[in-house]
Amino acid sequence: MRHALREATTPLMATKVRPDLSQGAPAHGARHVAIIMDGNGRWAKKRLLPRVAGHRAGVEAVRRVTRAARELGLECLTLYAFSSENWKRPASEIADLMSLLRHFIQSDLDELHANGVRLRVIGNYRAMDPSVVALIDGAIARTAGNKGPIVAIALNYGAQDEMARAVQALARRAVAGEIALDDIGVGDIDAALDTGDLPPLDLLIRTSGEQRLSNFLLWQAAYAELYFTDMLWPDFDERALAAALDAFRLRDRRFGGL
Ligand code: FPP
Repeated sequence: MRHALREATTPLMATKVRPDLSQGAPAHGARHVAIIMDGNGRWAKKRLLPRVAGHRAGVEAVRRVTRAARELGLECLTLYAFSSENWKRPASEIADLMSLLRHFIQSDLDELHANGVRLRVIGNYRAMDPSVVALIDGAIARTAGNKGPIVAIALNYGAQDEMARAVQALARRAVAGEIALDDIGVGDIDAALDTGDLPPLDLLIRTSGEQRLSNFLLWQAAYAELYFTDMLWPDFDERALAAALDAFRLRDRRFGGL
C-alpha cells in the first residue's frame, strides 16, 4: 500500500518547485520553516473514513514535504506531530498515532539518512513510551553526523512546557553558581529551549483554515511570518510548500525596525 502511494506521488524532479541555488542560498530566503499539520480528521471525515486513515495520509504528506524541504534548500523543517495536549484524545487514536510514528521511523530512516537529513525531536519526548524513546534516540544518533537539512519532529511538545523546562534548567545553573541571575538574558533563554541549536524560525505554516498557534513555538514565533492555508494537511505537498515560500519571499520583515 505504502509503495503504491509512493509511486502515485509526483516525482519532485518533475515539478517546478526547485529553487534557484545558483547564488548559494535559495531565493525565498527562508532557513527554518515549521508546520502545524492540521486537518487529518476532517480529511478522513470528508471521505467517510476513520480518523486513522487521515493520519495515515498525513504521514504521506510528511514524506512529500520532507523531500520538498530538501529540494527547496531549507536548513530546517519542524513538524508538529504530537502535542503535550494531544494526550486528551481517545486512547485508540493515541495508539494509532504512536504506531504511525514508530512505523515512519522504521521505514523512512534509511531514506532520510541517505539524503543527509539530521533527525531531531523537540518536546518532552523522554516522557513517552520507553520503546518509542529508544527508537527516537537511535534515529537521532544515527543521523547526527549528517550535513543535510534538519527535520525536527515535535513530540509531546508544548511551548509553555518547553519554556518551563528551559527556566528550570537556567535556574538549576544559577543555583549551582554557574550563571548569575541578573545576567540571564534573551539569548540564554533562547539557547535553553529545545530549539536552542536550530536556525531562527522564519515561517510558521498552519493548514486546515484554523488561525491559532496552539502552544507551538510561541517564543520562536516572535518574529516569524505566519501563513495560514485552508488546505487540509493530507493534501499538502511540494507545490503547497513552494507557494508558502513564495508568499514568504514577498513579506516585508522589519523585526520592529523601519
Ligand atoms: C492534527 O489533525 C494532526 C495531528 C494531531 C497529528 C499529526 C500527525 C501526523 C501528520 C502523522 C504522524 C507524524 C509523523 C511525523 C510520522 P487533527 O487530527 O486534529 O485533524 P482535525 O482537526 O481535522 O480533526
